[in-house]
Amino acid sequence: MKEVKNRCLTCSVIFILFFFVCLFFFEIIDYKSRLLLFFPRRLSNSTLCHGGLRQLKIYMYDLPRRFNVGMLDPTLPVTAESNLAWMGSCGLRRQHSVEYWMMASLYEGNGENGSTLETVRVMDPEDADLFFVPFFSSLSFNIHGLNMSDPNTVDQKLQRDIVKILKASSHWQRSGGRDHIIPLHHPNAFRHYRDKVNSSIFIVADFGRTMNIAKLAKDIVAPYAHMVESYFNDDEENPYDTRKTLLFFRGRTKRKEEGKVRMKLHKMLIGTPDVIYEEGDASEEGFKTSTEGMRSSKFCLHPAGDTPSSCRLFDAIVSHCIPVIVSDRIELPFENELDYKEFSIFFSVNEALTPSYMLSRLRGIKKHEWMKMWTRLKSFSHHFEFQYPPKKDDAVNMIWRQLRHKLPAIKLSVHRNRRLKIPDWW
Ligand SMILES: *[C@@H]1O[C@H](CO)[C@@H](O)[C@H](O)[C@H]1NC(C)=O
Ligand SMILES: *[C@@H]1O[C@H](CO)[C@@H](O)[C@H](O)[C@H]1NC(C)=O
Ligand SMILES: *[C@@H]1O[C@H](CO)[C@@H](O)[C@H](O)[C@H]1NC(C)=O
Ligand SMILES: *[C@@H]1O[C@H](CO)[C@@H](O)[C@H](O)[C@H]1NC(C)=O
Repeated sequence: MKEVKNRCLTCSVIFILFFFVCLFFFEIIDYKSRLLLFFPRRLSNSTLCHGGLRQLKIYMYDLPRRFNVGMLDPTLPVTAESNLAWMGSCGLRRQHSVEYWMMASLYEGNGENGSTLETVRVMDPEDADLFFVPFFSSLSFNIHGLNMSDPNTVDQKLQRDIVKILKASSHWQRSGGRDHIIPLHHPNAFRHYRDKVNSSIFIVADFGRTMNIAKLAKDIVAPYAHMVESYFNDDEENPYDTRKTLLFFRGRTKRKEEGKVRMKLHKMLIGTPDVIYEEGDASEEGFKTSTEGMRSSKFCLHPAGDTPSSCRLFDAIVSHCIPVIVSDRIELPFENELDYKEFSIFFSVNEALTPSYMLSRLRGIKKHEWMKMWTRLKSFSHHFEFQYPPKKDDAVNMIWRQLRHKLPAIKLSVHRNRRLKIPDWW
């Protein structure tokens, strides 16, 4: 009796197996596609690029040229073919030129080299992920707004006009400006009216003077355009030994607010034989001296300026001089991708002002440790180059990539905002 039962069971099992094998072979049930659901699917090339994410689609406002390139050259035509190169004569203003490089990259976007870009410009606002406002707010301050006691500068008028244009735009109204990108790199850029557009995504240098209206969660920290020449071809055998100076700083020692640390460091470090800490201005000659100094030093000091950040950090990076950062509230560009501890040293202001603490820590860094940081620094320095046409992974592409990573959060805030009937409680 038991045996019969067992035999029956075996038969049934074999039959069921046979049944399923048949189904599979004759594709009566499409198991294959169902199984493949569990594996990553291959998408067509057009939607899959840059590590699985598609290019960010940007609509650029068509503004009168007085808001942007008109400040550089009133006659300069703006097309991808015309030379969009940064005007050589703009000197110090170059530091905050991110607004210019972002605009230029959108002209390049659809051209021959477009496929290496993180972004693509769309002409139909309906297709856009985000909206770019090409207002050169930093240049406007530097050219039209330097007289801070004048209540009626051209800079202020441009700011007022741009707010008017934005508020009247249906794209702005739809999102309350949450999907709009506004460069605001100079600490005084857009200073009169920036609180009117504070729902937008700002491109900033740091949050020193915009703490109340800018936020790390929504805004992008962009590098300064460096002022010294980049160090290419430094394939020396032994940079540790050829860089004779231990620590280098050259710049203005008298600064406001957090920058007061510079004076104290000056008093502490002066007279140390392998340390250079000198007063220097931002002239052509000054940049030449800094270039040489940074290229022949192991470490380059970066104390806070009037605000927590300054151009000097990026000068050190492109000179492949390990940055020593003494600025408690600094924010750094691209920190979701880069770990600055791999190629920089950080001291709190208190640590830096503790006699001999900083120098003995730096002297204690072994040659092979320094070499490892230097190699890392060299491999990252291309992320800090602004150029036209843009290149893969350069500064402007890194900025667009950051924006693309923020896109889901931006969409969330836009969609919520469209339905809320009371002020947002988050
Ligand atoms: C997708 O990209 C690969 C490699 O870049 C290329 O060989 C292939 O032809 C592309 N396919 C399509 C459909 O464009
Ligand atoms: C594409 O990039 C290459 C290398 O950067 C450059 O020489 C060339 O001029 C670029 N083409 C256009 C149309 O900008
Ligand atoms: C700055 O503006 C004020 C007020 O308009 C004016 O009195 C002053 O002369 C200006 N200063 C300079 C340096 O132009
Ligand atoms: C904009 O600033 C105001 C105060 O100036 C603040 O109440 C508001 O929350 C800010 N909005 C955003 C999106 O940060």
